[in-house]
Amino acid sequence: MNIHIRELEETDCPGVLLIGNQAFTCNHTIEDAATHYARTKGDDRLKRLGTQTFQTGGFMKKEYTTKPESMKDIETYGFSWIDFVTAIPSPLLVVTSYKANGLPNACLQSWSTFVGCDDTFYCVMASVNKNGHMYKSIKETKELVLNFPSANYFDMCAKTIENNAYDDDEISKSGLTAENATTVNAPRIKECFLNLECQYLWEKELYEGSDHVVMCVTVTNICMDTCLFNEDSGRYSEEGYLYNVHYPVNPETGEGRYDCLATVKRIEDTITHY
Ligand SMILES: Cc1cc2nc3c(=O)[nH]c(=O)nc-3n(C[C@H](O)[C@H](O)[C@H](O)COP(=O)(O)O)c2cc1C
Repeated sequence: MNIHIRELEETDCPGVLLIGNQAFTCNHTIEDAATHYARTKGDDRLKRLGTQTFQTGGFMKKEYTTKPESMKDIETYGFSWIDFVTAIPSPLLVVTSYKANGLPNACLQSWSTFVGCDDTFYCVMASVNKNGHMYKSIKETKELVLNFPSANYFDMCAKTIENNAYDDDEISKSGLTAENATTVNAPRIKECFLNLECQYLWEKELYEGSDHVVMCVTVTNICMDTCLFNEDSGRYSEEGYLYNVHYPVNPETGEGRYDCLATVKRIEDTITHY
């Protein structure tokens, strides 16, 4: 593990150090730790942190195989309690396609991942509801666009959930602008800073009998706002990629239960660590 000195902070708990989001305790003084760190890593910056003493060694991890007692009365709305405890952020996007009546469909999606291989770029959407318009229209046309909104446009994108009737133009009814895609028969959302035009490849039930499928699509064209080309003020700023953080709950107390949005903060280049 790479330990970055500026990520190391004291916590409110006496004797506990935070490195990144992991808590550590140790039975050495910080100076001993600094000396050890300097010897093993050739870096003495840790000394600047002071002389506080820390106790006992090791990570402070806890294991949960079953739903924690504190969560037994929490409504999980069809999700797993593990969703809530891990609350792993996932990129937020709007999938657009044409319904059989020719009107634009828009569906907020999260739980997706992206991978490129030999110049082909794929998106794997991990949880597509088979009962929605999105699934039906993609199965009919085999074409779609993945649109990435910045935080400024999230509210309008969320409105597509209310404006979800078959006879709705879900994009314009939500205050957004539909434009033609270049390589596929699907609408793009103009206000989204990145549009990935895609073709349907395959799907698989998440588990046998599930009404959700894992769906893989391949990208045929990308359309990206030039403001995003600059990383710090673009992709990884408050104007950039948006993440869905789903119901973080503290498994010890049961406290939490709120959804939130997040953006990415760039910490440092990692290339030097490999
Ligand atoms: C933040 C957020 C993320 C969502 N992610 C998904 C998802 O990954 N898969 C899914 O099937 N529905 C997801 N939904 C629910 C759909 O957006 C919603 O049910 C939508 O109205 C379905 O549209 P459709 O009928 O066009 O398919 C999400 C909703 C929100 C608010």
